Amino acid sequence: MYLIRSLDEVRCLSRQARGQGRSLGLVPTMGALHEGHLSLVAKARSECRSVVVSIFVNPTQFGPREDLGRYPRDLERDLGLLAPFQIDAVFAPDAAAMYPSGFDTFVDPGAVSQPLEGALRPGHFRGVATVVLKLLNLVDPSTAYFGQKDFQQAMVIHRLIEDFNLDVRLALCPIVREPDGLAMSSRNAYLSAEERIMSLGLSHALRRAETVFCHGETRTEAVVEEMKRVIAAEPCLQLDYAVVADPQTLAPPPVVTAGAVALIAARVGSTRLLDNLILAPPGTNDEDRLHLVENRNSKLGTGPTALA
Ligand code: PAJ
Repeated sequence: MYLIRSLDEVRCLSRQARGQGRSLGLVPTMGALHEGHLSLVAKARSECRSVVVSIFVNPTQFGPREDLGRYPRDLERDLGLLAPFQIDAVFAPDAAAMYPSGFDTFVDPGAVSQPLEGALRPGHFRGVATVVLKLLNLVDPSTAYFGQKDFQQAMVIHRLIEDFNLDVRLALCPIVREPDGLAMSSRNAYLSAEERIMSLGLSHALRRAETVFCHGETRTEAVVEEMKRVIAAEPCLQLDYAVVADPQTLAPPPVVTAGAVALIAARVGSTRLLDNLILAPPGTNDEDRLHLVENRNSKLGTGPTALA
């Protein structure tokens, strides 16, 4: 496994792989790796001959009052976690290499980036879309792997790929959770023991949404009210939003049907947590939930068709 810092070197590795007709998977991350990230790496490993994981804490996607400075960084630990996967390279460029002085062009994502995270974090998806476009250009993968955990982000990237005619398949991977249901996140490291318990309110609220939906409730507002009630019962959780959305547009659907996605964001102390659930009949597994979304989005891949 090479550790590549330079843009030219990663281009060179990619040209070699693609030149030999090898499929190449890219897993973009900001490091502080956990089982969620590693599930993307495992998926890429199982589907592609060559795999590159990028580790780059992208400054342009953090707002001025956000946690760029204190975002957890531990490259040695990350390399240790990646070692067993026998990937080809970790691409960990410097900010100065990605954004040299004079850098002045950004991607301006559209409607799907406006609500929810986009409304609360102005400029966030502009930074995400810009860095992901740069990474896709540099690494030129046949498949790029993203987590359902950041559902809106995946939809923004999906539009980017479609709108800029990028020749890459987006593979969307299920959310990896702690045994008690908390979605894994690099930011969970910020939580105190007490906050860690309160943070379970998010997954409980999503499960409640699914329960009422499965009992026949199809009114969007009624399902949302149930989520809000669960969050309100936990006074230390500050709700940013709880919605049920169409997975493609992220607008509220007129009625809730299987494949609609419940999304929630809340703060506990100074930590922001995100979670979501694709609503489906009881017993539907995570991959099949993603297929419900994939069926509405032609270029999203979750199953064996994601093979490049
Ligand atoms: P980061 O937060 O490091 O996440 C990297 C990838 O891991 C994303 O696609 C994210 O959705 C996925 N991921 C995070 N937690 C997960 C979990 N519990 N289960 C499954 N997948 C999970 O997202 C970013 O970095 C950045 O915005 C990036 C795309 C790298 C651009 O800078």
